[in-house]
Amino acid sequence: MRHLLSTSALSREDALNILDTAEEMSGVATRHVKKLPTLRGRTVVNLFFEDSTRTRISFEAASKRLSADVMNFSGKGSSVSKGESLKDTVQTLESIGADAVVMRHWASGAAAQLADSGWTDCAVINAGDGTHEHPTQALLDALTLRRGWADRSGEALRGSDLAGMKVLIVGDILHSRVARSNVWLLRTLGAEVGLVAPPTLLPVGVETWPVTVHYSFDEALDTAPDAVMMLRVQAERMGGSFFPTVAEYTRRWGLTDERMARLEARFDGVSTPMVLHPGPMNRGVEISSAAADSVQNRVLDQVANGVSVRMAVLHLLLSGSRAAEPAAPSLPHSADRFSTGSSA
Ligand code: CP
Repeated sequence: MRHLLSTSALSREDALNILDTAEEMSGVATRHVKKLPTLRGRTVVNLFFEDSTRTRISFEAASKRLSADVMNFSGKGSSVSKGESLKDTVQTLESIGADAVVMRHWASGAAAQLADSGWTDCAVINAGDGTHEHPTQALLDALTLRRGWADRSGEALRGSDLAGMKVLIVGDILHSRVARSNVWLLRTLGAEVGLVAPPTLLPVGVETWPVTVHYSFDEALDTAPDAVMMLRVQAERMGGSFFPTVAEYTRRWGLTDERMARLEARFDGVSTPMVLHPGPMNRGVEISSAAADSVQNRVLDQVANGVSVRMAVLHLLLSGSRAAEPAAPSLPHSADRFSTGSSA
């Protein structure tokens, strides 16, 4: 694997390798010193042309936990506002020493274009491109789901997939890169996927996806899902009106207190169905405030798992690709006096 651009191109073997590596990486978070030397001397650039809290900060934390140097670049306040192109921006950052570029961009396909362009030798990691894909979000969701699924089944975590798990993805599928990346990865891992949305928030061609489509959230809950993934209503990507009112959307497609109670009533002595949200949550729109508080711990688990998954991805992409390094320069004689070695 040279880049991580999408989950649609990820084999089952590669996906499980990332998840298993992330499980190993998660142990670092509980150490007194939360660091590994794996990427010492390597430089990761976070190149964000869209806003982010979780993804950018957790890529930064992941890089630092692997001892990489990190440069943070935001489109706002940069020379992009003066018309500098993506090609010139990336080549500038590579000249400063970047080995990997973690990019979030408003244009679908931007990460693939960068990886395929020949503009850079950096590894490219897609941190969200338009409405297309957000692969590390789907991987952290899969890590979270796999832990819950293994708890229920008593199966070992390492090497296990999500075969037989029923997952509902609910809400603004049309604008969601999280939904697309999850559909491909969940199917690769053997889960059954249902989508729940108003017809106006489903993409053209959804009938060709390997999913079951539901228009009624209540009827979809009758299928006894093992997990429900709520999506944010992406008002910033909506040029027009996609549903009559927010109240109507919440009533029909939101995780209301009543629907949360239905999920909690399915407690089987081990757990209730898992509820995930990629964040940020719109309380009172796709999820009631009480439901949001009730699932907040799981949502924070997703965030913590994001650091482990991003450590795994950076480690797998960068640690094996180190070019032959020249010998370290010898110190000038004048530096000998700072030596801590014992003298005769
Ligand atoms: N889930 C997610 O991508 O969140 P951010 O936009 O805060 O990075």
